[in-house]
Amino acid sequence: MMDIFQQPEEMQAWSKARFREGRTIALVPTMGFFHEGHLSLMRRAAELCDTVVVSLFVNPTQFGPNEDLDRYPRDFERDMDLVRKESVAAVFSPTPELMYGAGFQTEVRVARLSTYLCGASRPVHFAGVATVVTKLFNIVRPEAAVFGEKDFQQLAVIRRLVADLNIPVEIVGHPIVREADGLAMSSRNANLDPANRAAALSLSAALQLTRAEAARGVLATAELGRMVARHIHSFAGTAIDYASFVDGESLEEVETVDARTILALAVHVDGKAGKVRLIDNGFVLPR
Ligand code: PAJ
Repeated sequence: MMDIFQQPEEMQAWSKARFREGRTIALVPTMGFFHEGHLSLMRRAAELCDTVVVSLFVNPTQFGPNEDLDRYPRDFERDMDLVRKESVAAVFSPTPELMYGAGFQTEVRVARLSTYLCGASRPVHFAGVATVVTKLFNIVRPEAAVFGEKDFQQLAVIRRLVADLNIPVEIVGHPIVREADGLAMSSRNANLDPANRAAALSLSAALQLTRAEAARGVLATAELGRMVARHIHSFAGTAIDYASFVDGESLEEVETVDARTILALAVHVDGKAGKVRLIDNGFVLPR
């Protein structure tokens, strides 16, 4: 039987009881509308600890005023059907009111890492993420937590957060899970227009093109960047938010590709109802 909790206090009491029984908890934080990427994180969590908890919370504080909070896809019953097939002991799914009650005023902000890439166009995003993840860690008290490399800046922010605040949680990164055609899985893909799939595929295709060019010896990121922009903009309805070559740890931009360089992409693509913002990333050189 899988337990479902809405109240933070109940979740916390459940976790404390598991701890007293000598169990170890791995947490998978999510915003729901599960796809194979989320499910693979849950399977990874089950390898790390004997008890898996999934949190499902569309966290309003990580969305900016003009972002897609209202359009974010949700289907709780579908999600519960999917998660029941996995080795998940409990789901924590609070309401915004329960997470941010009257008088709430504390924020966790990872200063520098939060300003690059997605942080430049989404100024409140990572403080929202860092704050909610800190709350989730305190409510669920996991030994380990699994995050996808698809959101690799988020992963970097959370690694920094637990190091800086001495939070006793092991952070485990999990590789990007893709559709057969290369599109990185995302809950937001539900808002894509199937007729405009080629535009959505331009991110993973640009990554492949970049790897091929780098393998031929083209390592100047200015030149590679021009090729990436040309490729992505060759599809109607695309607008690049950023296409940046960065150091995988500091997230600072680099001029020449080396073994640590990641190409990070964020692109607005025409969707069924308005633009959909897609992200993708990967190492340029083979690992
Ligand atoms: P969400 O977008 O639902 O993603 C939950 C987790 O699934 C994240 O760690 C994300 O990186 C991972 N994920 C998403 N798509 C993936 C894919 N194609 N392959 C591998 N992993 C993938 O990220 C969030 O929610 C929120 O910001 C959260 C951390 C829950 C805080 O609110």
